[in-house]
Amino acid sequence: MTVPSRLLVRDLAQVATPAERAAPLRGAALGAVEVVEDAYVLCAGETIESVGRMHDLPALDGEVVELDGRGLCAIPGLVDCHTHAAFGGDRVEEFSLRAAGAGYEELHAAGGGILATVRATRAAGEDGLRAAVERHRGWMLRHGTTTFEAKSGYGLDRETELASLRAIRVAGGVPTWLGAHAVPPEFDGDTDAYLDFALADVLPEAAMLAEAADVFLERGAFDAVQARRYLEACRDAGLELRLHGDQFTERGAIPLALDLGARSVDHLEATGPDGVRALAAGETVGVLLPASALFLGRPMPPARALVDAGAAVALATDFNPGSAFCESLPLCCSLAATQLTLSPAETLAACTVNAAHVLGRAGEIGRLAPGYRADLVLLDAPDWRYLAYHLGGDLVARVVLAGEPAELG
Ligand code: NIG
Ligand code: FE
Repeated sequence: MTVPSRLLVRDLAQVATPAERAAPLRGAALGAVEVVEDAYVLCAGETIESVGRMHDLPALDGEVVELDGRGLCAIPGLVDCHTHAAFGGDRVEEFSLRAAGAGYEELHAAGGGILATVRATRAAGEDGLRAAVERHRGWMLRHGTTTFEAKSGYGLDRETELASLRAIRVAGGVPTWLGAHAVPPEFDGDTDAYLDFALADVLPEAAMLAEAADVFLERGAFDAVQARRYLEACRDAGLELRLHGDQFTERGAIPLALDLGARSVDHLEATGPDGVRALAAGETVGVLLPASALFLGRPMPPARALVDAGAAVALATDFNPGSAFCESLPLCCSLAATQLTLSPAETLAACTVNAAHVLGRAGEIGRLAPGYRADLVLLDAPDWRYLAYHLGGDLVARVVLAGEPAELG
């Protein structure tokens, strides 16, 4: 039997990890962080072997590679459970128009917005899409994201949807089929005809490539009846369910998510008190996307009310070219602390343990404890709470991916 190679990250100022093993974390457990000062993390192969104080480090036999952690804090590798990283082109022109007062929904209704990215993504071809997802993965990694989900949804034809899902897989992402993102122009606004096509012609193969399905339930996109039809078919094909809901208006996304046992309902900027109560009483996670609310100048989601009511929440970037051109989870932690009034500890759990739960990977990633995958972020900071405190800072000194120091480019 070969002995796994060992990596010792030593002399760290702090190791900080969500304290509780359960997932998803809620209430007081969401804010419980375990901090070890003057600490080490020992990795054996791809797994964490032990975490502790330097003065308790046992003598280690055999070959051990050492990484100097002086002046750094270790936190779990960050988990981005909601991105749209598979896209071609950009929307910098639209961004300039929005800065001058044009509305996001207005641009979409005029054939721009998501549909502009659909044109660019179809034109990119499979090689172009692979290169794009790979580039975006590199950006995320430099900000400490060691596991990312990414959605299709900018192809909306068979070939480009499947190419997007393959590109995400090849780049090591967790693929979600967002087949119901918008109605492409060739269907001339006939939403039901588009769904007939997507479910008959794309779902069978998408279900073999993706882990989950997602729908944009919103005015100008899909209504609750259409979303239910799409999600039920996806569930029957073996996919987990996610929803984009309550972004601009409340249209039944939370009740539908709860009724179908969806993993998550994401956005929630328009969620009112009834939605907060309903989500808190259920198993579905509310995914907060403050970079998207900021980028579009929208109200922030009622995160404090959700957490105080006992809802399980996660935090993600929503990285995409139109509503959140932002790949930084640390920036989202800062927004969550300053705009959503979550504590730094709650932000850490929301983009580690709870995000891992949304992706069906709790117990495998998201904590620094024996048996978890050795994904670590080393922050250039004397205190781990700089994660949220250092607004837009160049925080990530090193990343360890499955026990190997990563090249950050
Ligand atoms: O999550 N709201 C729907 N979809 C994306 C944005 C897509 C785009 O503008 O390209 C979101 O915000
Ligand atoms: Fe999104």
